[in-house]
Amino acid sequence: MDATSSTNNFILQVEHLSMKFGGLVAIGDLSFQARRGEITALIGPNGAGKTTVFNCITGFYKPTEGMITLNKRDGSTYLLERLPNHEIPARAKVARTFQNIRLFSGMTLLENLLVAQHNKLMKASGYTFLGLFGFPSYRQASAESIELARHWLEKADLIERADDPAGDLPYGAQRRLEIARAMCTGPELLCLDEPAAGLNPKESASLNELLNDIKDNTGTSILLIEHDMSVVMQISDHVVVLEYGRKISDGNPQSVRTDPRVIAAYLGVDDEEVETVLTEVGDEDVIEQLDTGPDAAHGPGNSASMMAGPVSDTVEHADEGERVTVSKAASKAALVDASKPVSQAGKPAAKPRSPAKKSTSPAKPAAKSSTAKPRGGRK
Ligand SMILES: Nc1ncnc2c1ncn2[C@@H]1O[C@H](COP(=O)(O)OP(=O)(O)O)[C@@H](O)[C@H]1O
Ligand SMILES: [Mg+2]
Repeated sequence: MDATSSTNNFILQVEHLSMKFGGLVAIGDLSFQARRGEITALIGPNGAGKTTVFNCITGFYKPTEGMITLNKRDGSTYLLERLPNHEIPARAKVARTFQNIRLFSGMTLLENLLVAQHNKLMKASGYTFLGLFGFPSYRQASAESIELARHWLEKADLIERADDPAGDLPYGAQRRLEIARAMCTGPELLCLDEPAAGLNPKESASLNELLNDIKDNTGTSILLIEHDMSVVMQISDHVVVLEYGRKISDGNPQSVRTDPRVIAAYLGVDDEEVETVLTEVGDEDVIEQLDTGPDAAHGPGNSASMMAGPVSDTVEHADEGERVTVSKAASKAALVDASKPVSQAGKPAAKPRSPAKKSTSPAKPAAKSSTAKPRGGRK
C-alpha cells in the first residue's frame, strides 16, 4: 500500500468513526489522531465508548462508519476497518491488552510470552510437524523467541518468576506480563485498555516505568485507555476525552485537565452550570450540544465519575457559598501536581458560582448538592 508521507507523523488517524449497536450510538462521528512515538490517552466516564473505539481499531468490531488509518514506519498504510481481523496484529502490527486480564493462568510466564510468538515459530517450522524437530530455521527462531521473552520479562521486572504460573502473580505483575506479551509481537501501536485498573500506587509506578521505557526505547507508540489520572497525567503526551461517544476535549494533559467540559463530565456538574462557564469562554458549539443533551440513543443516562470512587464521597459542595471545594481524594489528577493547591483542579467548575451567575439565576435550595451527583442529560 502507498505511503502518505504528509500524514506519517501520525501512527493512527481516526476519522468520523461511528459505531451503533441497534439503536444505541456507542461512538458518534469521532475523529482524533495519535502521534508516532507518543503516548496518547483516551479517557472519559464509564460507558463513554472508549473500549468500543479500541474494539474498532483492533478489528473486534467493524465500525458502522468512518475510517481508521494506520501509518507504519516503513511508509505502508493500512485501513484497519477493512483489514481482516487476524491481519491487524500480524500485518498492521497493532497489539492490545484487555480491560479484564486475559492471560493463560495455568501456563508459566515464559510460556505465555512464547505463545505470543506462535506465528513466527510456526512459520519457521514450515508448518510441518517434522519441521519442529529438524529445521535449523525453527531451532534458531525458537532460541530467538526465548531470548525476546527473557528480554521483556526483565523489562517488566518479572524475570525472577519466569517459571511460575501466571495465575499466581499479583494483579500489578499480571498487567505488566500482559504488556510484555503484547510487546513480544513487535507492535508499532500498542493499545492498552485500563492497564492501571485495580493497581496500588507502587504497582502504578512500575507500570508507568514500563510504559515510559517502551516509549523511549522501542519504536512503539502507545494508545492508552485509563481511569487512573495519576497515570494519565504523568505519562501521556496527548489526551483525548470522550463523553457519550463524542469527543469533548483534545490536547495536552494540562489543557485537558483544566477544560471546563472535562471537569463537568467527571465531576457531574449540572449542565446549566457548565453552560455558564462555556458562555464565559464563548464555546458556542458545546453550548448547543448541551442544549440538545447527550445523544438520546447513547447508553447510560448518567456519566459516573472515574477520577476517584463515588463523587459523593469525595466532593464537598458549599452550595450557599461561592466555591466548590474538591477534596484531595476527589481528583487523582490534582494529586499528581501536589505543589498546586487542590482547589485549583475544581476552579473552572467553581466559576459558575460567580456573583454574575447568581444575579441571572435563582438561588438553589441549599439541600440540592448538584456537584455530588453525575451529570445526566437534560430532561
Ligand atoms: N457489543 C455491544 N453490544 C451492545 N452495546 C455495547 C456493546 N459494546 C459496548 N456497548 C455499549 O456501548 C457503550 C460504550 O461502551 P464501552 O465502549 O464499553 O464504554 P467505556 O469503555 O468507555 O466504559 C455502552 O453504552 C455499552 O453498553
Ligand atoms: Mg471500557
